[in-house]
Amino acid sequence: MSKSKLGTCKTPNQSALAWVEEMTKLCQPDRIFWCDGSEQENQMLCELMVQSGTLTKLNEKLRPGSYLACSHPSDVARVEDRTFICAKFKDEVGPTNNWADPTEMKKTLLGLFNGSMKGRTMYVIPFAMGPLDSPICKIGIEISDSPYVVVNMRIMTRMGQAVLDKLGADGRFIPCLHSIGAPLKPGQKDIAWPCEPDPQKKYIVHFPDEPSIWSYGSGYGGNALLGKKCLALRIASVVAKKEGWMAEHMLILCLTSPRGKKHYLAAAFPSACGKTNLAMMRPTLPGWKATCLGDDIAWIRVGQDGRLYAMNPETGFFGVAPGTSKKSNPNAVDTFAKNSIFTNVALTSDGDVWWEDSGIPAPAKAIDWEGREWTPGNGRKAAHPNSRFTAPASQCPVIDPDWQNPEGVPLSAILFGGRRPSTIPLVNEAFNWEHGVFLGSACGSETTAAALGQAGVLRRDPFAMLPFCGYNMADYFAHWLSFAQRAGRSKLPKVYFVNWFRKDGNGKWLWPGYGDNSRVLKWICERVEGAAKAQETPIGNLPTPDGLDLSGLNLPGEDLKQLLSVDVAGWKKEADDIASYYMRFGDNLPDALSQQLDGLRERLG
Ligand code: OXD
Ligand code: MN
Repeated sequence: MSKSKLGTCKTPNQSALAWVEEMTKLCQPDRIFWCDGSEQENQMLCELMVQSGTLTKLNEKLRPGSYLACSHPSDVARVEDRTFICAKFKDEVGPTNNWADPTEMKKTLLGLFNGSMKGRTMYVIPFAMGPLDSPICKIGIEISDSPYVVVNMRIMTRMGQAVLDKLGADGRFIPCLHSIGAPLKPGQKDIAWPCEPDPQKKYIVHFPDEPSIWSYGSGYGGNALLGKKCLALRIASVVAKKEGWMAEHMLILCLTSPRGKKHYLAAAFPSACGKTNLAMMRPTLPGWKATCLGDDIAWIRVGQDGRLYAMNPETGFFGVAPGTSKKSNPNAVDTFAKNSIFTNVALTSDGDVWWEDSGIPAPAKAIDWEGREWTPGNGRKAAHPNSRFTAPASQCPVIDPDWQNPEGVPLSAILFGGRRPSTIPLVNEAFNWEHGVFLGSACGSETTAAALGQAGVLRRDPFAMLPFCGYNMADYFAHWLSFAQRAGRSKLPKVYFVNWFRKDGNGKWLWPGYGDNSRVLKWICERVEGAAKAQETPIGNLPTPDGLDLSGLNLPGEDLKQLLSVDVAGWKKEADDIASYYMRFGDNLPDALSQQLDGLRERLG
């Protein structure tokens, strides 16, 4: 495809052209801009946004090629209560999703999108999730009136002309329509972060049968970067069920032992539970090396050898900034050292960014994420708790050489986890695949700031997919169970439940976490190899007290005991809670899971 001037990129794909034309008629933008993904285009858009006040260019010496964006205070997180799955029948989306009738919803959306881009430019963003030559690569085209979305999509996905070339004349794509919902009247002055401020007028809508995505009113994160949660999880989970693979909310990492033995692990934790930290961890155990393949999403399929292979469909990290420091995640700090976009963090007087728990002393004064003067101790947070960095995966100093392997990497183990201050031990190995699926289905965590709503309450988040599963969660459980037949049972990864967040009676963390989590991962790898010691308990196989390598760690014996013991009373309560959670799924719940729950209760006595 020959390239002409910026914004005029072309495709011979008639259905893409027809869809763009139809959406142009609907949204009535002033201009159409086809994105080619080039550096030149990126520069031009960043400069445009600096002029409009959407971006602030950071100090080129301290943070080359990087920008700060601050959103409207009403637009700071994913809006789960405004996220809808419009399958034909309500039962198809199950009790954990918001369902809306597809015809009614289309009517509502057509009304909202009618003229929604007036006075603005409509960007056409061709993107791919997964390496272009992966057997499960999916192409999307996002239409958006937000240049902020374009520059973020360029980091997070494979984006631009190469994707149109791959699409060719006859290829299929997933239409993703996005508008911030803020048309401009002639002569109206724009603001730095235009969006629909009324939460009830934001709509993040999925039509799984088409499939297509329509997102209105928000410019933030997963609401607007439609390749991520909307396509690569909600829509992909539906497609994966049909095509026989899995779309999961998981990081992927490789652990290499001092003997050079590699194990690939995938891990599902709810939002803001440390997935990015674990994905890029620096093991404290001498001789062990960890490399990162992804921090948020894994697409998993059965390989020709019957093993499960995982692939990261993204090309960047959209990580939570507060708490990210040289101590908690030195590799992330190096990753966003340049060419990154920061959203809703504070701006320092030397033109760099700052946030709480960054490990860097608070500046004497700064501009907070709401654009106000900020001084330490003034009672406000300088950065929003869900502020983010968008950084290219290729800049991660520990990116794995196989992170773009189109076939993916073979998994030795799958981990589930969550923030659980009590009851749940440090690590627990499932007896078998079905027990592993049971552990995944019972995942729960204290809520955090990643989604709007109350933080710090326990919510069940099966497989960390509660906000991201595009169909009935009970059918999703059944899909997981089916892999015992689809893959070779003996070749399935072992399954573990980990909990880095256990506290003692005084609220003190019992486990140091971060790089010391390598001690748990080492045990897991050695279990996979049939070496490490474990004891069978009613809840699963736990490490024996000498099973974990705790060399060089001053962990009090009493703490270790709490971390690795079975709290029978706590587990009986847990079982009751899982039972009442399961009731939500009625007859759709697979028998294998009720049997697992009965088995647990029997073993607990
Ligand atoms: C995310 C999330 O943004 O899970 O990754 O909320
Ligand atoms: Mn996530």
